[in-house]
Amino acid sequence: MGVYEIVVIALWAMLPAYVPNNAAVLAGGGRPIDGGRTWNGRRLLGDGKTWRGTAVGILVGAALALALNAVEPTASDLFGVGLPTFPLAVMVALPTGAMAGDIAASFLKRRTGRQRGAAFPGLDQLDFVVFSLLLAFLADPNWFGDVFTVPVLVAVVVATPLLHLVTNGIAYALGLKDEPW
Ligand code: CTP
Ligand code: MG
Repeated sequence: MGVYEIVVIALWAMLPAYVPNNAAVLAGGGRPIDGGRTWNGRRLLGDGKTWRGTAVGILVGAALALALNAVEPTASDLFGVGLPTFPLAVMVALPTGAMAGDIAASFLKRRTGRQRGAAFPGLDQLDFVVFSLLLAFLADPNWFGDVFTVPVLVAVVVATPLLHLVTNGIAYALGLKDEPW
């Protein structure tokens, strides 16, 4: 497989994990998941992790996977690459993992004394990748092994931080997000 094919498959397969964070930004608000609870004087997660943002993020990611399955033949033709479709368990696992990774990152940020919105370079860009891949693997190990070959995994780890910086930069410029990370 050439680099082009590898990158197209990596981005396609990760799309249901990419959109939940952006959907959560648009939908966020309401009750925080930690209910305001603290641990050693610091918030467990903080006001930036809400039930509504999380639920909408997962739903939007799963709906996108469904839509990608529907357009897969057309997209495969268009890109000239045999793209994968998402089994039901993976449709849920990818966005759920993305949200879980983001929540775990906020937990770590609060434990290290970072206020809501503080940057944590590296963690901010890859937290959701690790968890979404892990949950996708647990949801369907065979599918995972077929799609996420080593070169595709490398492409995911390299391309995701770049994509994350660009989309968050745009969201910040549009006034949708308080910080560009
Ligand atoms: N958001 C949400 N629920 C989530 C994730 C995000 O409601 N599970 C919304 C919140 O309104 C949040 C915004 O999306 O403020 C931006 O997300 P993020 O950058 O992850 O949160 P921060 O506010 O920066 O908080 P943290 O420092 O904990 O990352
Ligand atoms: Mg943030």
